[in-house]
Amino acid sequence: MSVIIVTGASGGIGYHTALDLARQGNQVIIAARGRERGEAAATRIGAVWQPLDLGDLTSVRRFAHDFLQRYGRLDLLINNAGVMAVPRRELTTDGFERQFGVNHLGHFALTGLLLPALEASDGGRVVTVTSGLHRRGRIDFDDLMGERRYRQFGAYCQSKLANVLFGLELGRRTGLTSVLAHPGVAHTDLARTGDRVRDVLIRLARLSAQSAADGARPILRAAVEGRTGEAYGPDGIGERRGAPARIEVSPAGRDQAVAERLWAISEELTGVRYGTFTSAQ
Ligand SMILES: NC(=O)c1ccc[n+]([C@@H]2O[C@H](COP(=O)([O-])OP(=O)(O)OC[C@H]3O[C@@H](n4cnc5c(N)ncnc54)[C@H](OP(=O)(O)O)[C@@H]3O)[C@@H](O)[C@H]2O)c1
Repeated sequence: MSVIIVTGASGGIGYHTALDLARQGNQVIIAARGRERGEAAATRIGAVWQPLDLGDLTSVRRFAHDFLQRYGRLDLLINNAGVMAVPRRELTTDGFERQFGVNHLGHFALTGLLLPALEASDGGRVVTVTSGLHRRGRIDFDDLMGERRYRQFGAYCQSKLANVLFGLELGRRTGLTSVLAHPGVAHTDLARTGDRVRDVLIRLARLSAQSAADGARPILRAAVEGRTGEAYGPDGIGERRGAPARIEVSPAGRDQAVAERLWAISEELTGVRYGTFTSAQ
């Protein structure tokens, strides 16, 4: 039985990922914000809910501390939670632009704080969930937080490119198996705001989308058989839907100089330093 954390598993793709892993008899921890949704999901699938707000570093630290006390060992971490296209610039508790803060910096800090548990596992694995839209992303080091110019989709694409750079750099720096995955386009609550016009437009843009359960398949495949440096996504046209398969990330995602720069800034911003590794490759 493996000990597994899935972030953002109270709904959407994370829920279906957690469901499948729990059905296989693993100890699954649903790391999500809201108690009601978190506990309901956990009860349905036979998992445990533990509160985590990736937009609040104090919450991330509390989560990691409690987890290390309770479990000590972590076999698989799935960095899945995310927010998309936040219409107006919002800040996390720590003052980071929300999409960069939650999607990238929150997971950067969480993974770093959980390293002792991942290293205590006989083969610790991390799957980081990105998006096909990472291909449109650019890390704007001069305006990482969109202070000068905020673009809701630009900020999302930047955060998803950051996921790719992080996942690959994590594999290079540690002895962990670090794999990337993206779900294609799936019907979930992602990018919904409650604004009816906008939500209808988003639904229209996802007309050809696959189910959330199908969106979870590349993540599950990455979790089971992915090797360091690999990425998985759907094999259909434009990687929007289909069976899970190995995919290539963008050249920008493989830029090691950018990854190293982003890593140093992420350590600085979060205060989480990865240090040296007992099992570095
Ligand atoms: N759906 C797609 O077509 C698509 C395409 C490409 C990539 N993705 C990626 O797939 C992942 C899952 O998205 P989804 O489509 O399943 O969206 P979703 O249904 O909106 O689920 C996102 C999850 O993230 C959680 N979350 C949001 N903010 C959080 C925070 N501050 N702290 C902790 N958890 C937080 C949400 O839980 P609460 O809000 O309840 O906390 C929710 O459980 C994301 O990384 C997304 O970028 C999705």
